[in-house]
Amino acid sequence: MNINSLLHKGSSVLKERRIRTYKIDSELILSEIIKKDLAFMSINGDFEVRPKEAEIYNDLIFRRKNNEPIAYILKKKEFWSIDFDLNQNVLIPRPETEFLVEEVIKKYRHKNSINILDIGTGSGCILLSILRNLKNSQGIGIDKSKKAIDIAKKNSSLLRLEKRSKFINCNIDNFKLGKYDVIVSNPPYICSYRIKYLSRDIRDYEPMEALDGGIDGLTTTIDIIKKSQKLLKKGGHLYIEIGEKQFNKLSNILLKNNFRIVKTVHDYNKNPRCIISTKVI
Ligand SMILES: C[S@@+](CC[C@H](N)C(=O)[O-])C[C@H]1O[C@@H](n2cnc3c(N)ncnc32)[C@H](O)[C@@H]1O
Repeated sequence: MNINSLLHKGSSVLKERRIRTYKIDSELILSEIIKKDLAFMSINGDFEVRPKEAEIYNDLIFRRKNNEPIAYILKKKEFWSIDFDLNQNVLIPRPETEFLVEEVIKKYRHKNSINILDIGTGSGCILLSILRNLKNSQGIGIDKSKKAIDIAKKNSSLLRLEKRSKFINCNIDNFKLGKYDVIVSNPPYICSYRIKYLSRDIRDYEPMEALDGGIDGLTTTIDIIKKSQKLLKKGGHLYIEIGEKQFNKLSNILLKNNFRIVKTVHDYNKNPRCIISTKVI
């Protein structure tokens, strides 16, 4: 079969299952299998695809038809213009998390060297994107999931950042190592009862420990704030991504724990998405 007929077949299957991104998903899947870019595919519709590749394509279309996210099917996701390796043991990096990365890079790009801790590192996307830009800095990423740490280490090695990054399988409750200029975190912040209302792509495929923030969605975030009080240097900065309607509660908790809020960053929907605070005492 040629490119055009495979794309037509694959996108029709996905469209029938109401996958909104049916066209681009079928293109991305085929492009990955035949190792040709989208531009080549658009002008070479009669290019014959090998039967073995067509078979793999059909299998992957079947997975997408069952709502598996395209990032898990392709085993990668672009974040901060970097391709990160992924599998179902880590959250798929989200564009809104790039706000946090941007803020750290903006603030520290002219500083000599800083020590960074990334709590709940997942694929390592936050820490590694920052280190890629802050060439003299170093950091540690921790995660309670051993399988997530394996992926973060793989990404660190693919990006040749092993010398400046270290990844440790540890729960934040037990972590005591070092003092940091900056702590970053995108913790699980969805209320437990709302998990069942998430779209199937998320609910059925992304790791629960990356999503579920407990009864009010704040359990891990509060642990992180309290722990950061001990792990940050005085005057150090804490960058936390937050969920909808969590700003008021969390800003009070930050103040009670001797942090001063420096800035709140809003996302594309104008919701507060990242709180930047500094440790006062
Ligand atoms: C929302 S994901 C964020 C992943 C990645 N930083 C990102 O932004 O794409 C949260 C991560 O925190 C980890 N995690 C949850 N609770 C934790 C805890 N108590 N201690 C350490 N890691 C935790 C999860 O395993 C998950 O990988």
